[in-house]
Amino acid sequence: MLDDAQTAPPDETAGAKRIKGLYIKTYGCQMNVYDSARMSDVLAPLGFRPVDEPAKADMVILNTCHIREKAAEKVFSELGRLRDQRDEMGHHDQIIAVGGCVAQAEGEEILRRAPFVSMVFGPQTYHTLPEMIARLERDGGHPVLNTDFPAESKFDSLPEEFASQGPSAFLSVQEGCDKFCTFCVVPYTRGAEFSRPVAMILEEARRLVDGGAREITLLGQNVNALHAEGPDGKEWGLGRLCYALAEIDGLERIRYTTSHPRDMDDELIAAHRDIPALMPFLHLPVQSGSDRILQAMNRKHTADDYRLIVEKLRAARSDLALSSDFIVGFPGETDADFAQTLRLVNDIGFAQAYSFKYSPRPGTPAAGLGNPVPDAVANDRLQSLQQLLNAQQQAFNDRCVGETMAVLFDRPGRHEGQRIGRSPFMQSVHALCPERLQGQVADVLITRARPNSLGGEIVTGVRVGSAGQ
Ligand code: SAH
Ligand code: SF4
Ligand code: F3S
Repeated sequence: MLDDAQTAPPDETAGAKRIKGLYIKTYGCQMNVYDSARMSDVLAPLGFRPVDEPAKADMVILNTCHIREKAAEKVFSELGRLRDQRDEMGHHDQIIAVGGCVAQAEGEEILRRAPFVSMVFGPQTYHTLPEMIARLERDGGHPVLNTDFPAESKFDSLPEEFASQGPSAFLSVQEGCDKFCTFCVVPYTRGAEFSRPVAMILEEARRLVDGGAREITLLGQNVNALHAEGPDGKEWGLGRLCYALAEIDGLERIRYTTSHPRDMDDELIAAHRDIPALMPFLHLPVQSGSDRILQAMNRKHTADDYRLIVEKLRAARSDLALSSDFIVGFPGETDADFAQTLRLVNDIGFAQAYSFKYSPRPGTPAAGLGNPVPDAVANDRLQSLQQLLNAQQQAFNDRCVGETMAVLFDRPGRHEGQRIGRSPFMQSVHALCPERLQGQVADVLITRARPNSLGGEIVTGVRVGSAGQ
Protein backbone atom coordinates (compact mmCIF):
# COMPACT_ATOMS: atom_id res chain seq x y z
CA MET A 1 0.00 0.00 0.00
CA LEU A 2 2.87 2.37 0.69
CA ASP A 3 5.84 3.44 -1.30
CA ASP A 4 9.37 2.90 -0.15
CA ALA A 5 11.20 5.90 1.19
CA GLN A 6 13.46 7.04 -1.59
CA THR A 7 14.92 10.27 -2.83
CA ALA A 8 18.07 11.31 -4.64
CA PRO A 9 21.19 9.15 -4.46
CA PRO A 10 23.91 10.15 -1.97
CA ASP A 11 26.20 12.99 -2.84
CA GLU A 12 29.68 11.43 -2.68
CA THR A 13 31.40 14.79 -2.55
CA ALA A 14 29.57 16.21 0.46
CA GLY A 15 31.71 16.94 3.52
CA ALA A 16 34.47 14.91 5.07
CA LYS A 17 32.12 12.41 6.68
CA ARG A 18 31.67 9.24 4.64
CA ILE A 19 28.27 9.29 3.00
CA LYS A 20 26.36 6.09 3.57
CA GLY A 21 23.28 4.75 1.82
CA LEU A 22 20.03 4.31 3.75
CA TYR A 23 17.05 2.39 2.42
CA ILE A 24 13.82 2.34 4.44
CA LYS A 25 10.88 0.21 3.41
CA THR A 26 7.63 1.22 5.08
CA TYR A 27 4.63 -1.00 5.77
CA GLY A 28 1.34 -0.22 7.53
CA CYS A 29 -0.29 3.06 8.46
CA GLN A 30 0.56 6.73 7.90
CA MET A 31 2.14 6.85 11.34
CA ASN A 32 4.81 4.53 10.03
CA VAL A 33 5.33 6.78 6.99
CA TYR A 34 5.90 9.71 9.35
CA ASP A 35 8.21 7.61 11.54
CA SER A 36 10.28 6.50 8.54
CA ALA A 37 10.81 10.13 7.54
CA ARG A 38 11.93 10.92 11.08
CA MET A 39 14.32 7.92 11.17
CA SER A 40 15.90 9.34 8.06
CA ASP A 41 16.21 12.74 9.80
CA VAL A 42 17.80 11.10 12.87
CA LEU A 43 20.38 9.28 10.73
CA ALA A 44 21.25 12.22 8.47
CA PRO A 45 23.85 13.71 10.87
CA LEU A 46 25.68 10.35 10.80
CA GLY A 47 26.13 10.68 7.04
CA PHE A 48 23.21 8.50 5.94
CA ARG A 49 21.40 9.60 2.77
CA PRO A 50 18.39 7.89 1.15
CA VAL A 51 19.12 5.56 -1.79
CA ASP A 52 16.60 4.09 -4.20
CA GLU A 53 17.27 0.37 -3.74
CA PRO A 54 18.49 -1.91 -0.96
CA ALA A 55 21.48 -3.09 -3.02
CA LYS A 56 23.01 0.40 -2.75
CA ALA A 57 22.41 0.72 0.99
CA ASP A 58 24.79 0.43 3.94
CA MET A 59 21.74 0.17 6.15
CA VAL A 60 18.31 -1.24 5.32
CA ILE A 61 15.41 -0.65 7.71
CA LEU A 62 12.08 -2.42 7.43
CA ASN A 63 9.51 -0.29 9.26
CA THR A 64 6.88 -2.91 9.92
CA CYS A 65 3.18 -3.41 10.68
CA HIS A 66 1.65 -6.06 12.94
CA ILE A 67 -2.04 -5.31 12.43
CA ARG A 68 -2.96 -8.50 10.54
CA GLU A 69 -1.15 -11.79 10.14
CA LYS A 70 -0.40 -11.17 6.46
CA ALA A 71 1.27 -7.86 7.23
CA ALA A 72 3.54 -9.46 9.83
CA GLU A 73 4.46 -12.47 7.67
CA LYS A 74 5.52 -10.19 4.79
CA VAL A 75 8.40 -9.04 6.96
CA PHE A 76 9.95 -12.48 7.20
CA SER A 77 9.79 -13.08 3.44
CA GLU A 78 11.31 -9.66 2.77
CA LEU A 79 14.09 -10.39 5.27
CA GLY A 80 14.91 -13.63 3.42
CA ARG A 81 15.20 -11.72 0.15
CA LEU A 82 17.44 -9.08 1.73
CA ARG A 83 19.76 -11.74 3.17
CA ASP A 84 20.08 -13.51 -0.21
CA GLN A 85 20.83 -10.24 -1.95
CA ARG A 86 23.39 -9.25 0.66
CA ASP A 87 25.14 -12.63 0.37
CA GLU A 88 25.17 -12.50 -3.43
CA MET A 89 26.78 -9.06 -3.32
CA GLY A 90 29.21 -10.12 -0.60
CA HIS A 91 28.16 -6.90 1.19
CA HIS A 92 28.55 -8.40 4.68
CA ASP A 93 28.80 -5.04 6.44
CA GLN A 94 25.29 -4.04 5.38
CA ILE A 95 23.15 -3.46 8.48
CA ILE A 96 19.72 -5.06 8.23
CA ALA A 97 17.35 -3.59 10.82
CA VAL A 98 13.71 -4.13 11.72
CA GLY A 99 11.71 -1.31 13.29
CA GLY A 100 8.01 -0.64 13.89
CA CYS A 101 5.21 -2.75 15.27
CA VAL A 102 6.42 -6.27 14.36
CA ALA A 103 9.73 -5.39 16.02
CA GLN A 104 7.84 -4.37 19.15
CA ALA A 105 5.62 -7.45 19.24
CA GLU A 106 8.04 -10.13 18.03
CA GLY A 107 11.52 -8.77 18.68
CA GLU A 108 13.03 -11.99 20.08
CA GLU A 109 11.28 -14.08 17.43
CA ILE A 110 12.80 -11.96 14.64
CA LEU A 111 16.34 -12.49 15.99
CA ARG A 112 15.64 -16.22 16.32
CA ARG A 113 14.12 -16.68 12.86
CA ALA A 114 16.43 -14.22 11.10
CA PRO A 115 19.77 -14.22 12.98
CA PHE A 116 21.38 -12.10 10.23
CA VAL A 117 19.28 -9.12 11.42
CA SER A 118 21.53 -6.83 13.45
CA MET A 119 19.04 -4.44 14.95
CA VAL A 120 15.46 -4.68 16.17
CA PHE A 121 13.80 -1.58 17.61
CA GLY A 122 10.27 -0.61 18.61
CA PRO A 123 8.29 2.46 17.49
CA GLN A 124 9.14 4.50 20.60
CA THR A 125 12.92 4.10 20.38
CA TYR A 126 14.04 5.30 16.95
CA HIS A 127 15.40 8.60 18.28
CA THR A 128 18.20 6.43 19.77
CA LEU A 129 19.26 4.97 16.38
CA PRO A 130 22.71 6.65 16.56
CA GLU A 131 23.34 5.01 19.96
CA MET A 132 22.12 1.66 18.67
CA ILE A 133 24.51 1.89 15.72
CA ALA A 134 27.38 2.81 18.04
CA ARG A 135 26.50 -0.13 20.30
CA LEU A 136 26.46 -2.49 17.32
CA GLU A 137 29.95 -1.34 16.28
CA ARG A 138 31.27 -1.55 19.84
CA ASP A 139 29.88 -5.04 20.42
CA GLY A 140 31.42 -6.44 17.25
CA GLY A 141 28.10 -6.86 15.44
CA HIS A 142 26.24 -8.52 18.31
CA PRO A 143 22.55 -7.79 17.56
CA VAL A 144 20.83 -4.90 19.31
CA LEU A 145 17.28 -5.41 20.61
CA ASN A 146 15.46 -2.32 21.86
CA THR A 147 11.74 -2.61 22.51
CA ASP A 148 11.53 -0.28 25.51
CA PHE A 149 8.83 2.25 26.14
CA PRO A 150 11.25 4.94 27.37
CA ALA A 151 10.05 7.42 29.98
CA GLU A 152 11.31 10.33 27.86
CA SER A 153 9.35 10.88 24.66
CA LYS A 154 11.13 10.40 21.35
CA PHE A 155 9.58 13.69 20.24
CA ASP A 156 11.77 15.53 22.76
CA SER A 157 14.94 14.30 21.12
CA LEU A 158 14.14 14.24 17.42
CA PRO A 159 16.29 16.63 15.38
CA GLU A 160 14.84 20.06 14.66
CA GLU A 161 16.04 19.77 11.08
CA PHE A 162 13.83 17.66 8.87
CA ALA A 163 13.64 16.89 5.18
CA SER A 164 10.70 18.44 3.30
CA GLN A 165 7.71 16.16 2.81
CA GLY A 166 6.41 18.19 -0.14
CA PRO A 167 3.01 19.89 -0.55
CA SER A 168 1.13 17.33 1.53
CA ALA A 169 2.76 16.52 4.85
CA PHE A 170 2.10 14.31 7.85
CA LEU A 171 2.46 15.55 11.41
CA SER A 172 2.21 13.14 14.33
CA VAL A 173 0.34 14.80 17.20
CA GLN A 174 -0.79 11.85 19.26
CA GLU A 175 0.41 8.32 19.62
CA GLY A 176 -0.63 5.10 21.28
CA CYS A 177 -4.02 3.83 22.30
CA ASP A 178 -5.87 3.11 25.54
CA LYS A 179 -9.02 1.79 23.90
CA PHE A 180 -8.13 -1.92 23.78
CA CYS A 181 -10.52 -3.08 21.10
CA THR A 182 -10.42 -6.83 21.58
CA PHE A 183 -9.06 -7.59 18.08
CA CYS A 184 -6.28 -5.01 17.96
CA VAL A 185 -2.53 -5.11 18.62
CA VAL A 186 -1.94 -1.35 18.58
CA PRO A 187 -2.24 -0.72 22.36
CA TYR A 188 0.52 -3.32 22.81
CA THR A 189 2.80 -2.27 19.96
CA ARG A 190 2.52 1.51 20.38
CA GLY A 191 1.86 1.75 24.10
CA ALA A 192 -0.34 4.13 26.06
CA GLU A 193 -1.97 7.26 24.67
CA PHE A 194 0.35 10.22 24.54
CA SER A 195 -0.19 13.73 23.12
CA ARG A 196 2.52 16.14 22.04
CA PRO A 197 2.38 19.65 23.53
CA VAL A 198 0.55 22.21 21.38
CA ALA A 199 3.56 24.55 21.11
CA MET A 200 5.66 21.75 19.63
CA ILE A 201 2.90 20.80 17.17
CA LEU A 202 2.41 24.39 15.99
CA GLU A 203 6.16 24.88 15.60
CA GLU A 204 6.46 21.75 13.47
CA ALA A 205 3.42 22.80 11.40
CA ARG A 206 4.99 26.21 10.69
CA ARG A 207 8.23 24.60 9.60
CA LEU A 208 6.37 22.20 7.33
CA VAL A 209 4.55 25.13 5.70
CA ASP A 210 7.87 27.01 5.32
CA GLY A 211 9.17 23.88 3.60
CA GLY A 212 6.33 23.94 1.03
CA ALA A 213 3.47 22.08 2.73
CA ARG A 214 0.01 23.37 1.75
CA GLU A 215 -1.81 20.51 3.44
CA ILE A 216 -1.08 18.91 6.79
CA THR A 217 -2.60 15.65 7.93
CA LEU A 218 -2.49 15.34 11.71
CA LEU A 219 -1.75 11.79 12.71
CA GLY A 220 -2.52 9.68 15.73
CA GLN A 221 -3.70 6.15 16.39
CA ASN A 222 -6.61 7.90 18.10
CA VAL A 223 -6.02 11.38 16.89
CA ASN A 224 -9.24 12.85 18.30
CA ALA A 225 -8.39 11.50 21.76
CA LEU A 226 -5.76 14.26 21.76
CA HIS A 227 -5.42 15.97 25.11
CA ALA A 228 -2.40 18.16 24.57
CA GLU A 229 -0.82 20.61 26.98
CA GLY A 230 -1.79 24.04 25.63
CA PRO A 231 0.30 27.22 25.79
CA ASP A 232 -2.32 28.54 28.24
CA GLY A 233 -1.61 25.66 30.63
CA LYS A 234 -4.99 24.11 29.81
CA GLU A 235 -5.60 20.83 28.07
CA TRP A 236 -6.44 21.19 24.38
CA GLY A 237 -8.50 18.78 22.32
CA LEU A 238 -8.17 18.25 18.58
CA GLY A 239 -10.91 20.77 17.73
CA ARG A 240 -9.10 23.56 19.56
CA LEU A 241 -5.84 22.59 17.86
CA CYS A 242 -7.51 22.83 14.44
CA TYR A 243 -8.63 26.41 15.18
CA ALA A 244 -5.02 27.32 16.04
CA LEU A 245 -3.59 25.59 12.97
CA ALA A 246 -6.08 27.41 10.75
CA GLU A 247 -4.32 30.67 11.73
CA ILE A 248 -1.06 29.62 10.05
CA ASP A 249 -0.49 31.62 6.85
CA GLY A 250 -0.03 29.43 3.80
CA LEU A 251 -1.63 26.33 5.34
CA GLU A 252 -4.62 25.76 3.08
CA ARG A 253 -5.76 22.33 4.14
CA ILE A 254 -6.02 20.46 7.41
CA ARG A 255 -6.93 16.80 7.79
CA TYR A 256 -6.65 14.32 10.62
CA THR A 257 -6.62 10.55 10.92
CA THR A 258 -7.50 8.12 12.48
CA SER A 259 -10.34 9.17 14.69
CA HIS A 260 -12.57 7.13 16.97
CA PRO A 261 -16.35 7.69 17.14
CA ARG A 262 -16.22 7.95 20.94
CA ASP A 263 -13.89 10.95 20.84
CA MET A 264 -15.83 12.97 18.27
CA ASP A 265 -16.68 15.80 20.68
CA ASP A 266 -18.73 18.98 20.12
CA GLU A 267 -15.69 21.24 19.74
CA LEU A 268 -14.33 19.08 16.93
CA ILE A 269 -17.72 18.96 15.23
CA ALA A 270 -17.93 22.76 15.53
CA ALA A 271 -14.46 23.01 13.99
CA HIS A 272 -15.86 21.27 10.91
CA ARG A 273 -18.55 23.96 10.76
CA ASP A 274 -16.24 26.94 11.33
CA ILE A 275 -12.95 26.15 9.60
CA PRO A 276 -13.06 26.09 5.79
CA ALA A 277 -9.51 24.68 5.69
CA LEU A 278 -10.61 21.62 7.63
CA MET A 279 -11.29 19.35 4.67
CA PRO A 280 -14.78 17.87 4.29
CA PHE A 281 -13.57 14.29 4.38
CA LEU A 282 -13.39 12.14 7.47
CA HIS A 283 -12.08 8.64 8.05
CA LEU A 284 -14.18 7.39 10.96
CA PRO A 285 -13.83 3.63 11.49
CA VAL A 286 -16.94 1.81 12.70
CA GLN A 287 -15.87 -1.86 12.22
CA SER A 288 -19.39 -3.35 12.38
CA GLY A 289 -23.06 -2.38 12.28
CA SER A 290 -24.12 -4.95 14.87
CA ASP A 291 -24.37 -3.80 18.49
CA ARG A 292 -23.63 -7.33 19.70
CA ILE A 293 -20.37 -7.46 17.71
CA LEU A 294 -19.46 -3.88 18.59
CA GLN A 295 -19.76 -4.85 22.23
CA ALA A 296 -17.66 -7.99 21.76
CA MET A 297 -15.08 -5.80 20.04
CA ASN A 298 -15.11 -3.44 23.06
CA ARG A 299 -15.76 -0.46 20.80
CA LYS A 300 -17.88 1.16 23.53
CA HIS A 301 -20.49 2.59 21.16
CA THR A 302 -23.53 1.33 19.29
CA ALA A 303 -24.40 1.52 15.61
CA ASP A 304 -26.97 4.22 16.41
CA ASP A 305 -24.33 6.26 18.27
CA TYR A 306 -22.37 6.20 15.02
CA ARG A 307 -25.42 7.26 12.99
CA LEU A 308 -26.02 10.15 15.40
CA ILE A 309 -22.41 11.37 15.20
CA VAL A 310 -22.54 11.33 11.41
CA GLU A 311 -25.82 13.24 11.52
CA LYS A 312 -24.24 15.94 13.75
CA LEU A 313 -21.18 16.15 11.53
CA ARG A 314 -23.29 16.53 8.40
CA ALA A 315 -25.39 19.19 10.11
CA ALA A 316 -22.12 21.05 10.79
CA ARG A 317 -20.70 20.54 7.32
CA SER A 318 -23.23 19.39 4.75
CA ASP A 319 -20.71 18.30 2.11
CA LEU A 320 -18.76 16.07 4.51
CA ALA A 321 -17.77 12.76 2.87
CA LEU A 322 -17.08 9.73 5.01
CA SER A 323 -14.70 6.83 4.95
CA SER A 324 -14.49 3.92 7.37
CA ASP A 325 -12.89 0.60 8.31
CA PHE A 326 -14.83 -2.64 8.63
CA ILE A 327 -13.96 -6.07 9.96
CA VAL A 328 -16.00 -9.08 8.82
CA GLY A 329 -15.87 -12.54 10.35
CA PHE A 330 -15.23 -11.46 13.94
CA PRO A 331 -15.75 -14.51 16.21
CA GLY A 332 -19.44 -15.22 16.68
CA GLU A 333 -20.59 -12.92 13.83
CA THR A 334 -23.88 -14.30 12.44
CA ASP A 335 -25.64 -13.61 9.14
CA ALA A 336 -27.98 -11.31 11.09
CA ASP A 337 -25.01 -9.37 12.52
CA PHE A 338 -23.53 -9.02 9.07
CA ALA A 339 -26.88 -7.83 7.69
CA GLN A 340 -26.73 -5.02 10.28
CA THR A 341 -23.34 -3.98 8.89
CA LEU A 342 -24.77 -3.80 5.37
CA ARG A 343 -27.71 -1.79 6.73
CA LEU A 344 -25.37 0.71 8.38
CA VAL A 345 -23.39 1.09 5.17
CA ASN A 346 -26.61 1.73 3.26
CA ASP A 347 -27.78 4.25 5.86
CA ILE A 348 -24.56 6.27 5.90
CA GLY A 349 -23.32 6.13 2.31
CA PHE A 350 -19.52 6.12 2.24
CA ALA A 351 -17.28 7.90 -0.25
CA GLN A 352 -14.70 5.15 0.26
CA ALA A 353 -13.82 2.52 2.87
CA TYR A 354 -11.47 -0.29 3.81
CA SER A 355 -12.74 -3.70 4.78
CA PHE A 356 -10.81 -6.60 6.24
CA LYS A 357 -11.34 -10.21 7.16
CA TYR A 358 -10.80 -10.67 10.88
CA SER A 359 -7.28 -11.89 11.62
CA PRO A 360 -6.67 -13.32 15.10
CA ARG A 361 -3.64 -11.63 16.66
CA PRO A 362 -1.55 -13.24 19.38
CA GLY A 363 -2.02 -11.70 22.81
CA THR A 364 -5.32 -9.93 22.01
CA PRO A 365 -8.50 -10.92 23.93
CA ALA A 366 -10.45 -11.83 20.76
CA ALA A 367 -7.83 -14.42 19.82
CA GLY A 368 -9.06 -16.45 22.81
CA LEU A 369 -12.74 -16.31 21.80
CA GLY A 370 -14.43 -19.45 20.49
CA ASN A 371 -16.97 -19.59 17.72
CA PRO A 372 -14.78 -18.69 14.74
CA VAL A 373 -16.53 -17.80 11.48
CA PRO A 374 -15.66 -20.35 8.78
CA ASP A 375 -13.24 -18.91 6.24
CA ALA A 376 -15.59 -19.43 3.30
CA VAL A 377 -18.35 -17.50 5.08
CA ALA A 378 -15.99 -14.67 5.99
CA ASN A 379 -14.79 -14.52 2.37
CA ASP A 380 -18.39 -14.30 1.10
CA ARG A 381 -19.21 -11.54 3.55
CA LEU A 382 -16.08 -9.61 2.62
CA GLN A 383 -17.01 -9.87 -1.03
CA SER A 384 -20.58 -8.62 -0.56
CA LEU A 385 -19.46 -5.78 1.68
CA GLN A 386 -16.78 -4.72 -0.77
CA GLN A 387 -19.27 -4.85 -3.63
CA LEU A 388 -21.58 -2.49 -1.77
CA LEU A 389 -18.75 -0.14 -0.74
CA ASN A 390 -17.32 -0.09 -4.26
CA ALA A 391 -20.73 0.78 -5.68
CA GLN A 392 -21.04 3.63 -3.16
CA GLN A 393 -17.57 4.89 -4.06
CA GLN A 394 -18.37 4.80 -7.79
CA ALA A 395 -21.66 6.62 -7.16
CA PHE A 396 -19.86 9.27 -5.10
CA ASN A 397 -17.26 9.74 -7.84
CA ASP A 398 -19.96 9.89 -10.53
CA ARG A 399 -21.73 12.67 -8.64
CA CYS A 400 -18.54 14.76 -8.85
CA VAL A 401 -18.66 14.94 -12.65
CA GLY A 402 -19.63 18.46 -13.71
CA GLU A 403 -18.46 19.94 -10.38
CA THR A 404 -15.51 22.29 -10.02
CA MET A 405 -13.17 21.19 -7.25
CA ALA A 406 -10.08 22.63 -5.63
CA VAL A 407 -7.23 20.21 -6.28
CA LEU A 408 -3.85 20.23 -4.57
CA PHE A 409 -1.38 19.00 -7.19
CA ASP A 410 1.31 16.97 -5.49
CA ARG A 411 2.79 14.60 -8.06
CA PRO A 412 3.47 14.08 -11.76
CA GLY A 413 1.12 11.78 -13.68
CA ARG A 414 2.09 8.97 -16.01
CA HIS A 415 1.34 10.87 -19.21
CA GLU A 416 3.21 13.81 -20.70
CA GLY A 417 2.06 17.11 -19.14
CA GLN A 418 -0.23 15.38 -16.68
CA ARG A 419 -0.28 15.91 -12.94
CA ILE A 420 -2.13 14.24 -10.10
CA GLY A 421 -3.60 15.95 -7.10
CA ARG A 422 -6.13 15.45 -4.34
CA SER A 423 -9.66 16.74 -4.20
CA PRO A 424 -11.03 17.98 -0.86
CA PHE A 425 -12.58 14.49 -0.57
CA MET A 426 -9.23 12.70 -0.96
CA GLN A 427 -9.94 11.50 -4.49
CA SER A 428 -6.96 11.41 -6.86
CA VAL A 429 -7.59 13.86 -9.69
CA HIS A 430 -5.70 13.66 -12.99
CA ALA A 431 -5.42 16.73 -15.21
CA LEU A 432 -3.22 18.26 -17.88
CA CYS A 433 -1.49 20.85 -15.83
CA PRO A 434 1.38 23.33 -16.15
CA GLU A 435 4.37 22.46 -14.01
CA ARG A 436 4.08 25.71 -12.04
CA LEU A 437 0.95 24.31 -10.39
CA GLN A 438 2.95 21.56 -8.69
CA GLY A 439 2.42 22.03 -4.98
CA GLN A 440 -0.47 24.48 -5.53
CA VAL A 441 -4.23 24.36 -5.24
CA ALA A 442 -6.11 24.98 -8.52
CA ASP A 443 -9.73 24.69 -9.63
CA VAL A 444 -10.51 21.69 -11.78
CA LEU A 445 -13.72 20.95 -13.65
CA ILE A 446 -14.32 17.23 -13.20
CA THR A 447 -15.10 15.58 -16.52
CA ARG A 448 -14.76 11.85 -15.79
CA ALA A 449 -15.07 9.45 -12.88
CA ARG A 450 -13.31 6.13 -12.47
CA PRO A 451 -13.67 3.71 -9.53
CA ASN A 452 -10.52 5.04 -7.86
CA SER A 453 -9.90 8.44 -9.42
CA LEU A 454 -11.29 11.45 -11.25
CA GLY A 455 -10.15 13.29 -14.34
CA GLY A 456 -10.70 16.93 -15.26
CA GLU A 457 -9.55 20.21 -16.74
CA ILE A 458 -8.00 23.19 -15.03
CA VAL A 459 -10.44 26.11 -15.08
CA THR A 460 -8.42 28.86 -13.41
CA GLY A 461 -4.88 29.51 -12.29
CA VAL A 462 -3.61 29.27 -8.75
CA ARG A 463 -6.16 30.19 -6.08
CA VAL A 464 -4.35 32.73 -3.98
CA GLY A 465 -5.33 32.63 -0.33
CA SER A 466 -8.14 30.18 -0.99
CA ALA A 467 -9.16 27.78 1.71
CA GLY A 468 -9.09 25.04 -0.86
CA GLN A 469 -12.72 24.09 -0.70
N1 SAH B 1 -6.84 3.42 15.37
C1 SAH B 1 -7.67 3.07 14.34
C2 SAH B 1 -7.37 1.75 13.65
C3 SAH B 1 -6.02 1.28 13.46
S1 SAH B 1 -5.89 -0.26 12.69
C4 SAH B 1 -9.08 2.97 14.87
O1 SAH B 1 -9.32 2.93 16.03
O2 SAH B 1 -9.97 2.86 14.09
C5 SAH B 1 -6.68 -0.01 11.14
C6 SAH B 1 -7.80 -0.95 10.88
O3 SAH B 1 -7.33 -2.28 10.79
C7 SAH B 1 -8.85 -1.01 11.96
O4 SAH B 1 -9.74 0.04 11.90
C8 SAH B 1 -9.50 -2.34 11.71
O5 SAH B 1 -10.55 -2.24 10.79
C9 SAH B 1 -8.37 -3.16 11.09
N2 SAH B 1 -7.90 -4.19 12.02
C10 SAH B 1 -7.28 -4.00 13.20
N3 SAH B 1 -7.01 -5.19 13.79
C11 SAH B 1 -7.49 -6.16 12.96
C12 SAH B 1 -7.54 -7.57 13.01
N4 SAH B 1 -7.08 -8.25 14.06
N5 SAH B 1 -8.11 -8.23 11.96
C13 SAH B 1 -8.60 -7.55 10.90
N6 SAH B 1 -8.58 -6.22 10.81
C14 SAH B 1 -8.04 -5.51 11.82
FE1 SF4 C 1 -6.87 -0.50 17.78
FE2 SF4 C 1 -9.22 0.12 18.80
FE3 SF4 C 1 -7.07 1.48 19.50
FE4 SF4 C 1 -8.04 1.73 17.05
S1 SF4 C 1 -9.08 2.31 18.97
S2 SF4 C 1 -5.91 1.49 17.61
S3 SF4 C 1 -8.78 -0.32 16.62
S4 SF4 C 1 -7.45 -0.64 19.96
FE1 F3S D 1 0.39 -1.34 11.71
FE2 F3S D 1 1.54 -0.41 13.85
FE3 F3S D 1 0.26 1.23 12.20
S1 F3S D 1 0.47 -2.31 13.67
S2 F3S D 1 -1.35 -0.08 11.40
S3 F3S D 1 2.07 0.08 11.74
S4 F3S D 1 0.34 1.34 14.41
